[in-house]
Amino acid sequence: MKESIEKALNDQINAELYSAYLYKAMEMYLHSIDFPGMANWMKVQTQEELAHAEGMIQFINLRAGRVSLYAIEMPKKEWASPAEVFKDAFDHEAKVVTVKIHKLVDLAIKEKDHAFNQFLQWYVAEQVEEEDNTSTLAIRLKKIGDNMPALMAIDTKLAARMFVAPVIPGTSVGAP
Ligand SMILES: [Fe+2]
Ligand SMILES: [Fe+2]
Repeated sequence: MKESIEKALNDQINAELYSAYLYKAMEMYLHSIDFPGMANWMKVQTQEELAHAEGMIQFINLRAGRVSLYAIEMPKKEWASPAEVFKDAFDHEAKVVTVKIHKLVDLAIKEKDHAFNQFLQWYVAEQVEEEDNTSTLAIRLKKIGDNMPALMAIDTKLAARMFVAPVIPGTSVGAP
């Protein structure tokens, strides 16, 4: 694989690991203010991000590239409310991760690496889902404000989320 692509994908692995770290920080904050269901939702989100990174790691190995594990930035620790947490999660997905994934597609096209482009398409679709999930929850929580019964109802609902490994084509992630 071309060096420019190896470098860009290694940067993206770092971004996915940072996402996992950020959602873990959000999980800890939500625990600290006693919303275990929302914390569970973030815990599952962290597991998803680790799977995203793993898919990219496997793709680099498959193409005889070399994985570089860079330092992971420290996420913030405190938020003002659950609504702010989910708004931040949405902003992170839409303004950071999706933009980065789209830039990788631009690079794949520029370098005429069709296999890389095809690999990335799963992530392009995944971002549509990530943005939808986080924006739905952010909007709902904003509407609810500090209505405790409504917050508790959402918390109970989010407690049911379970991790199902995503199936990332061309990798063993999510394969039976
Ligand atoms: Fe991700
Ligand atoms: Fe994500």
